[in-house]
Amino acid sequence: MTFFEATCTAPVNIAVVKYWGKRDTSLILPTNSSLSVTLSQDQLHSKTTIRASADFTSDRLWLNGIEESIEKNKRLVACLRETRALRAQIEAKDESAPKLSGLKIHICSENNFPTAAGLASSASGYACLVYTLSKLFELPLNASDLSIVARQGSGSACRSLFGGFVAWEMGEKEDGSDSRAVQVAPETHWPDLQALICVVSDEKKGTSSTEGMQLTVKTSALLQHRIKNVVPKRMEEMIAAIHNKDFPRFAELTMQDSNQFHAVCLDTYPPIFYMNDISRAIIRIISEYNKDGIKAAYTFDAGPNAVIYAPQQNMREIYAILSHYFPGHAFEDSLGLKKNDTVHALPQNF
Ligand code: DP6
Repeated sequence: MTFFEATCTAPVNIAVVKYWGKRDTSLILPTNSSLSVTLSQDQLHSKTTIRASADFTSDRLWLNGIEESIEKNKRLVACLRETRALRAQIEAKDESAPKLSGLKIHICSENNFPTAAGLASSASGYACLVYTLSKLFELPLNASDLSIVARQGSGSACRSLFGGFVAWEMGEKEDGSDSRAVQVAPETHWPDLQALICVVSDEKKGTSSTEGMQLTVKTSALLQHRIKNVVPKRMEEMIAAIHNKDFPRFAELTMQDSNQFHAVCLDTYPPIFYMNDISRAIIRIISEYNKDGIKAAYTFDAGPNAVIYAPQQNMREIYAILSHYFPGHAFEDSLGLKKNDTVHALPQNF
């Protein structure tokens, strides 16, 4: 069998100014800009292999070793359609370019972290899918252009196309061509800043981000206040704090934004609860730890798990405090997770 193949990895990102709400649900255009920190790929990543062959009779997908339907997944279909259309343009211009846009493909994707742990897997997963497609099809696009395609898989995925500190500019245009990710600072900018992921619960969340945010858009007056009066200024302040490596300001803004995101969830009707008693206890412990000066920041996405950002020298202490209060809980130190360099065990018939 002759085939064309590409394998790539993509990292997880954790937002410090949260994306919550879409103004266009099919193009995935957000109601506010957002900003995230991309975690090191050595610890958490998605890995995807894509093969295209004239011998394949249909597009097929395996996620963490299990075959899933592609047709039912509108977002995946959109990413395939967009990248194939870009490949077709290359083939139309260059007679000698292999005709890949018409070939069926097989996609094998896995995460090197437990998907069940409720960590952001759609961000790294879709970033990886789109990046691997771009390599397979040899698309002449930069990361920001590719983020426009990844955004249509999952909003937060557009930010995983870059390392370091990444803004997703909401844009204004109806076609979404200006709703893209840009790098605010590279991964080398602030090596002292570290992330600790606290797995509070590995249960699947009750309300998905996609469903939850649209219910918020429909029902929350607080979201309208956040979009208009809070996020634009907070984005500017966050970018300045990152450029100045001002940890206390970065931390304060991060915690305030997490708090407001969860307040907006509570203002949704009926309300959405993502944090649990342990999440709230972590907030209290970090607030107490910061009593005499800010040394750590917590943030929570659409689930109970905490991510703690802190300068490296504080991390061991924070780890010790949290393990003391929650013995037996799995606190995954982002420094301590094992690198998984194993090659894919590709499914049979791949
Ligand atoms: C709370 O990107 O998962 O993590 O665009 O519907 O796929 P869809 O949503 P998703 O939402 C992420 C929400 C968040 C905040 C953030 O990452 O900015």
